[in-house]
Amino acid sequence: MKGIFITFEGIDGCGKSTQCELLKDYLKDNGKDFIFVREPGGTAIGERIREILLDKKNSRMTARTELLLFEAARAQITDEVIKPALEEGKIVICDRFFDSSSAYQGMARGMGMDFVAGLNMAATGGLKPDVTFFFDISAEEALARRGKRGEASDRIELAGLKFQEDVRKGYLELASNSDGRIVTIDATLGIDEIFNVVIESLKGKI
Ligand code: TYD
Repeated sequence: MKGIFITFEGIDGCGKSTQCELLKDYLKDNGKDFIFVREPGGTAIGERIREILLDKKNSRMTARTELLLFEAARAQITDEVIKPALEEGKIVICDRFFDSSSAYQGMARGMGMDFVAGLNMAATGGLKPDVTFFFDISAEEALARRGKRGEASDRIELAGLKFQEDVRKGYLELASNSDGRIVTIDATLGIDEIFNVVIESLKGKI
């Protein structure tokens, strides 16, 4: 692939959306050829799967169904959007990718990280991000931030504090086994400080 694939990860309320916005502005200001997408979603089919996944009414959804729906949305965005853009040499930024399934479904929902890794592989055909930023924060602090913003919780966020703690554990495990792909950033630092780390890590790559 000619382009570069960058993903953003972290528990709910970690501040990654703010950092995505800053990176988008930076790339725009520097005249870079990039696209920005999010998971689940990013395609017409994926956005419909997203609605099912996040709908609070779907309280009967089993962990396996949830995992397979995330993977289905991922397969679609990978083939329809991400791979073609990378072939064209673009920078692709994705707000969440397969590490989310490993941390949320593999660790927190207890499906098993290895089991999920196999499905991630199936959904992406082996495509991996070049760089992944993991914004690390405790579940308590993230919850406090979300509370301040007064956002309505979706079905996944409703899973609670212990669930978010387990998601974090999953990310930390992924980061320690990633051979440098995952850059862990202390998400309690200031917004500008965090963004400096992001840009420093991308020097020479974008
Ligand atoms: P979203 O509103 O996009 O959350 P955020 O702004 O935090 O990214 O909702 C996505 C939710 O889905 C979020 O709680 C994380 C969860 N998720 C998984 O559980 N598994 C996955 O594979 C993905 C991509 C997301």
